[in-house]
Amino acid sequence: MLKKKSTWIVLGLIALAVGLSAFSGNKKKPQKPRPYKIDLPEFVLDYFEPMPMPADNPMTEEGVELGRYLFYDGILSADRSMSCAACHKQANAFSDPRRFSIGVKGDIGIKHSMSIVNIGWSSFFFWDGRSKSLEEQANDPITNPIEMANTWEVVLPRLQSHPDYPNRFYKAFGSANITKDMVLKALSQFERTIISFNSRFDRYFYGGDANALTAQEERGMELFFGGGSCNHCHSDVLLTDNFFRNNGIDIKPDSGMAKNTKLSQDIGKMKVPTLRNIALTAPYMHDGRFKTLEEVVDFYLDSVHIKSPNLDEHMSLLTNRPIFVASDRKALVAFLKTFTDSTLITNPKLKDPNAF
Ligand code: HEC
Ligand code: HEC
Repeated sequence: MLKKKSTWIVLGLIALAVGLSAFSGNKKKPQKPRPYKIDLPEFVLDYFEPMPMPADNPMTEEGVELGRYLFYDGILSADRSMSCAACHKQANAFSDPRRFSIGVKGDIGIKHSMSIVNIGWSSFFFWDGRSKSLEEQANDPITNPIEMANTWEVVLPRLQSHPDYPNRFYKAFGSANITKDMVLKALSQFERTIISFNSRFDRYFYGGDANALTAQEERGMELFFGGGSCNHCHSDVLLTDNFFRNNGIDIKPDSGMAKNTKLSQDIGKMKVPTLRNIALTAPYMHDGRFKTLEEVVDFYLDSVHIKSPNLDEHMSLLTNRPIFVASDRKALVAFLKTFTDSTLITNPKLKDPNAF
């Protein structure tokens, strides 16, 4: 009898020890998130600069993955129906094929949703530059009444009671107490991975593959850098200088950047959009007024409003250019189409993680 009792005690102690060690295993410090390495082709660093990174939001594998889940999740919108990807679609280089996006309440915006590829190099966001960081920007669509129309009082408890999110936040930020700051940081980390530098133009221009463009496209390139002066604003490896400029689409322009700076010299200035993947991101301009690249090229060659206030100085080169005959216009359009990066729209790492 006694013998039996002691066996039970020994067994009990072993069970306790195993239990305790399992418990302390759970309590172990979280695995440190693994730093995320941005994969850039060499020419970007040779001709340009590394992506700037905010000191308080270093990219990690876990943060990027969490951001990707959030980017594709309707949970952030008032009625759970709309994710960021509703207006920034991978198939359209993360822009919206509709002229104006429609929010959860059916409201129609007044600006075209632009592509957000290579957005990590931007310092000011939106067509009028009203936002100064990606982290700050991401708050806008979530709370904007004509977009996702939500509030943080609603979003945070939803994420907190989700079966997976607390653990994902724990892995990314070392805390399962989800905050607005963590949501915005994770979204921004994912957005910084939306990178696109793999077009036929890149293979030709930076990769030295003389066969990557046709003769017509080569002619278009001459015009882009030459008589068209397009590269003065759509410049560098990003094909934008990320500045704010008035390209003369209206005689009485939208207040543009002035809406935000309140300076009359900023009236009509809009963010210069990247031309990367431009064949995929129609319609064009801040208000999506042009449906095709042919219309855009005709505008630059025939209809620039030279009396538009604050017309950019670089536009004078374009308005005083040599004549472009019909075949030149076609060549310029053909060249613009060589900016398409087909690997961007099929990149599995940028797809909806729930869609598999
Ligand atoms: C209802 C459609 C809609 C949704 C949903 C939406 N966006 Fe946008 N997004 C837009 C529009 C339209 C603009 C341009 C608005 C402007 O400039 O005033 C924009 C602009 C942006 C920009 C600025 C790009 C630049 O070059 O400056 C970023 C970044 C962005 N959105 C990220 C997001 C993220 C992240 C989410 C989800 C949290 C999101 N968007 C959800 C429509 C949307
Ligand atoms: C002075 C600077 C400047 C020059 C030069 C310039 N652009 Fe632009 N481009 C802009 C700005 C700014 C916008 C956005 C304007 C707006 O939406 O109101 C734009 C918009 C565009 C768009 C639409 C992009 C989108 O995502 O909607 C295309 C395409 C384009 N430009 C092509 C060209 C071509 C081709 C040339 C040369 C013939 C050219 N640009 C010359 C500044 C310039």
